[in-house]
Amino acid sequence: MEHKTDFLVIGSGIAGLTFALKVAEFGNVTIVTKKEVVESSTNHAQGGIASVFDDIDSFDLHIQDTLEAGDDICNHDVVKMVVKDGPERIKELINLGVKFNLKNQAENSTDSPDFDLGREGGHSRNRIIHAHDMTGKEVERVLVEQARKNENISLFENHMAIDLITCSTRIKRGSVITDQEDFCCGAYVLDRKSNVVKTFSSKITLLATGGSGKVYLYTSNPDIATGDGIAMGYRAGTKVANLEFVQFHPTCLYHPEAKNFLISEAVRGEGGILINTSGNRFMEKYDPKKELACRDVVARAIDTELKKSGDDSVFLDISHKKPDFVKQRFPNIYQRCLEFGIDITKDPIPVVPAAHYMCGGVVTDMSGRTDIQRLYAIGETAFTGLHGANRLASNSLLEALVYAETASNQAVIDLKKLNDKEIPESPRWDESGTTNSDEGIMVSHDWDEIRHLMWNYVGIVRSDKRLSRAKRRIDNIQEEINRYYWDFKITPDLIELRNIALVAELIIKCAEHRKESRGLHYTIEYPEKNDKLWKKDTFLRRPLVG
Ligand code: FAD
Ligand code: SIN
Repeated sequence: MEHKTDFLVIGSGIAGLTFALKVAEFGNVTIVTKKEVVESSTNHAQGGIASVFDDIDSFDLHIQDTLEAGDDICNHDVVKMVVKDGPERIKELINLGVKFNLKNQAENSTDSPDFDLGREGGHSRNRIIHAHDMTGKEVERVLVEQARKNENISLFENHMAIDLITCSTRIKRGSVITDQEDFCCGAYVLDRKSNVVKTFSSKITLLATGGSGKVYLYTSNPDIATGDGIAMGYRAGTKVANLEFVQFHPTCLYHPEAKNFLISEAVRGEGGILINTSGNRFMEKYDPKKELACRDVVARAIDTELKKSGDDSVFLDISHKKPDFVKQRFPNIYQRCLEFGIDITKDPIPVVPAAHYMCGGVVTDMSGRTDIQRLYAIGETAFTGLHGANRLASNSLLEALVYAETASNQAVIDLKKLNDKEIPESPRWDESGTTNSDEGIMVSHDWDEIRHLMWNYVGIVRSDKRLSRAKRRIDNIQEEINRYYWDFKITPDLIELRNIALVAELIIKCAEHRKESRGLHYTIEYPEKNDKLWKKDTFLRRPLVG
């Protein structure tokens, strides 16, 4: 079954939906998303969106904080662009209907909104625009509502992209063919309800598939975060970069029944302190900014404390604040913790670090273009150069908004150039020779093994020995998955397994390559930063076969 579209958008988080709404005026848009439309990291975002709105703040300060968090390897032009474009993009969200918290809810002006600005780690000023502690839910609600009512947008839920399709054009100089150029012409997509693999052919394709936290055993990420965009991009031949920089959020709820629940950094921003089992505050030993140091510092400090004490968790305590304030500022966290028997207005919250954000990804330019023609990537799946070795809190939703703008502008220009061209016919999915699998158990064993080994060997603190052990095991698992992949009919679990295995391999390769410690990458053999040799990004590209 073939679908043809001008713009194919893969993913329905903040990145995909914002891009789709912007290009819909210029062509027809198809969004494919692998589960229900709202299933995304965006929908779980708590703290908010960083941007400069306060008189005592400035672009320069936000730029400086972003560069400092990134530990000297951010792309300065990108940082400037994203920071300076922020306020415009936030106003756009308000115009679409997003409701952020204001100092005085009654006086709501779009031109100069008086936001209730929160604080998070690494920020020198209060600059986090938020909707209580459910910012992402509010943004996603409005974007989905707008996308659903847009006549130029078709939304395919429960449609999972398997792989990108590339086609070639011959480049002529006069009448002589001098070269051949690959371009992206769509994607193969599994309809999860009918189990049919469909071909979506497009003029422009956008990867907006989000992060890859599920590569790790413990993560703040929802189940959709299996690194599909990075894996699809890499297999198609794009460059990927900086995958060693996996951000571990310091404070995820530690409770046997709580799956992936984050305790926002905004709790520390409002005065929450970190204590150990004996009730002692420990962050001052590690950084003068204490609980509001950058995430890499706080996560490593907790890791060290836990290794020293042998305890299962540390605690985040906000019980010294007025109960009404806590309930009103953090209604979601309050409610969720209460379900597990923790009243955060009285009790300290047990927390541990967990994989949270992928700073690396598919390499793009400042317009979201990858190095494959007609293929764009934005949001968490992309590597733009903004985050360097560590992302500053709440810069991720901001990055997605700004790149939805620059990428949509460029994509519309590209579309206009292609308007006289037919959408190319793509080859159909070939599943001849495959049978239904009777070995589903192998898929779930491999999933578990990868997530355990990444947590144990490629976590917050790394070493050469642990990385090479992880690499050997991943190589074996990859071999098994490849055999399995070509012999059996495709399933959603198998698609994700293949992707997390590849992303795990790429994280390990990047980590093995960087022989220093910088930002989120800390390795025992090279505990210092080495600017002379390593003040640069790590790039990988799939070796050409044949
Ligand atoms: P997502 O929002 O994750 O969307 C990805 C989409 O792609 C989903 O719809 C998914 O189903 C779809 N998809 C994936 N693979 C496929 C496939 N193969 N085929 C089809 N569809 C696919 N950042 C901030 O700036 N501020 C915050 O306060 C904040 N809080 C956070 C709290 C939590 C708990 C988490 C997990 C993250 C938080 N982040 C925050 C990070 C931020 O939410 C994400 O980086 C951002 O939302 C990513 O947006 P995205 O559109 O790139 O991806
Ligand atoms: C949080 O609310 O702590 C998450 C913020 C982020 O990931 O940027």
